Amino acid sequence: MYKKRTIIISNRLPVRIEKHKGVLKFIPSEGGLATGLGSIYKKDNNIWIGWPGYIPDSEEEKEIIKEELKELNLIPVFLTIEQIEGYYEGFSNEVLWPIFHHRLSYAVYKQENWQYYKEVNQAFCDTIWAQQLDAKDEIWIHDYQLMLLPKLIRQDDEKISIGYFQHIPFPPDEIFRCIPWRNELLEGLLGADLIAFHTYNDTQHFLNACTHIIGLTIKNNSLQVGDRSVYAEVFPMGIDYNKFSSLAESPEVQNRARAIKEQYQNRKIILSIDRLDYSKGILERLHAFENFLINWPEYHSQVVLYMLVVPSRDTVPQYKRLRDEIDRMAGHINAVYGTNAWTPIAYYYNTYPVEELSALYTAADICLVTSLRDGMNLVCKEYIASKENSLGVLILSELAGASKELLDAIQVNPNAINEISNAIAQALQMPKEEQRKRMDDSIEIVEKFNINHWVKLFFNRLREIKIIQRNEMSR
Ligand code: G6P
Repeated sequence: MYKKRTIIISNRLPVRIEKHKGVLKFIPSEGGLATGLGSIYKKDNNIWIGWPGYIPDSEEEKEIIKEELKELNLIPVFLTIEQIEGYYEGFSNEVLWPIFHHRLSYAVYKQENWQYYKEVNQAFCDTIWAQQLDAKDEIWIHDYQLMLLPKLIRQDDEKISIGYFQHIPFPPDEIFRCIPWRNELLEGLLGADLIAFHTYNDTQHFLNACTHIIGLTIKNNSLQVGDRSVYAEVFPMGIDYNKFSSLAESPEVQNRARAIKEQYQNRKIILSIDRLDYSKGILERLHAFENFLINWPEYHSQVVLYMLVVPSRDTVPQYKRLRDEIDRMAGHINAVYGTNAWTPIAYYYNTYPVEELSALYTAADICLVTSLRDGMNLVCKEYIASKENSLGVLILSELAGASKELLDAIQVNPNAINEISNAIAQALQMPKEEQRKRMDDSIEIVEKFNINHWVKLFFNRLREIKIIQRNEMSR
C-alpha cells in the first residue's frame, strides 16, 4: 500500500550552506519552524524543499550538495544571482514584505522582479513534481515568497492536499490592493485547501481581499473557488517550549546567565533581540529608551539596554540605511547619557548560538518587544519559556501577533514613545509576586500552545477539509 508523504516547502531550507577555505559546511537552522517540523520531514519518505542560501561553483558541486542534502531528506532549489536579486530581494523583500508590514512608501514595483517571482515559484513547482508525488501526499507551503505555488501545483493535480501558512501579517485589503499583481497573488494562494495565518485580523483581511478584490463569495465559512471550498483560518504558531525551558535550567546556561549579570554589575537588564528589520521598531525603541532616561533620571546607571540585532537582508537599501541609523542613535545615547562607569546601551550586531540567547533570556529583567508590525514574534515566547525559575517582565507591542495571546504582558503601542518609557518604569517597579503571577499565566499559554500542538492542529484540519471537499464533490 502507498504510504503517503508529507512535503514541506519554504523559501529557505532548514540547513544553510557556506563554503570556508574550499570546504562546504551544512549549518542547521535553530529557527522555530526547523525544530517544529523536524519530527516530520526527517521521518519516512518525507522531504523539505527549499533554497540552501548558496550558489554552487560548478555542476559537480551542485551534485555533491544534492547528494549530501538527500541524506537529510532535503531537496534544494538552486537560485541564480539574477533570481536572488529579482525574486528574493526585489519582489519578496521590496514589494511583499513592506506592503504586508504597512510600509507602502518602501515598496518598489518592477515588472522584471515580478517575472523573476513567477519564474522561481515555477522552479519550486517543477522541483516538487520531480519527486514523483502521489495524489495522497500532503504539501505544506510556508510564507509569502511562495504565494503563487499553491495554484501552480493545483494545476497539475486537482485532488492533492495543499496547506499554506503565512508567517507575516496579511494587510487590510485597501493596502493589499496597491500591489499591481494583487489578483494573481490571491489566485495563487487559492490553489491551497487551507490558508492559515497567526491572527484573526490577518485572516479577516485575506477574506476581505478575496471578496472585495476578486469578487469571491463565502459559503459555509469557506471561499468558493470554482467548485472547490477553500478555508482561511487562524493557527497562532508556538515555539518548542521544552527546548527553551530545559535549556534555561541547564547548569551551563545558568552559569552563563550569572556571568552576564555580573558583567553588568547586577544592573537591571532590559533585553531586546530582533532581526535587523524596519518592522521591528528598533529606532522607536531607542527613542523610548532615551525618553525613559530623560524622564526617570533616578534610573541612570541602574539599568542597561542589551540590544542584539541579528544581521539580515543587508543588500536591500532600506536595511542598510536602518543599520546606519541604529548605529548613530545607540552611539548618541551612550555618548550623551553614559559616564565613565556606565554605558546605557550594550549594542551587538551579531548572530548568537541558542545557548547564549537562553542565558540572555534567563538573565534579563525585562524583555522589550516593540514591533511596529509582526506576524507573531517568537522572541517573546522564548523569553517566557526561559522564565520558569527566574523573574522578569515582558513589554510587548500590541501590533505583534503574540499580543493576542499574551494578555499578561505590559502591552504598548510601539509608536507611543511615552507609553513605552512609562512601561519600562512600571516593569522595573513591579512587585515580585505580580511578576511571578503574570509570568506563570503566560507560561501556561506558551507551554500549551507549543509548536508541536500547532503542527498537529494544522494537519488535522487539512485532513478534515479534504473530507469535507470529497463529500461536497460526491453530492
Ligand atoms: C521572517 C519570514 C521568513 C524568513 C525570515 C528570515 O521570519 O517570515 O519567511 O525566512 O523572516 O528572513 P530571510 O529573508 O533571511 O529568509
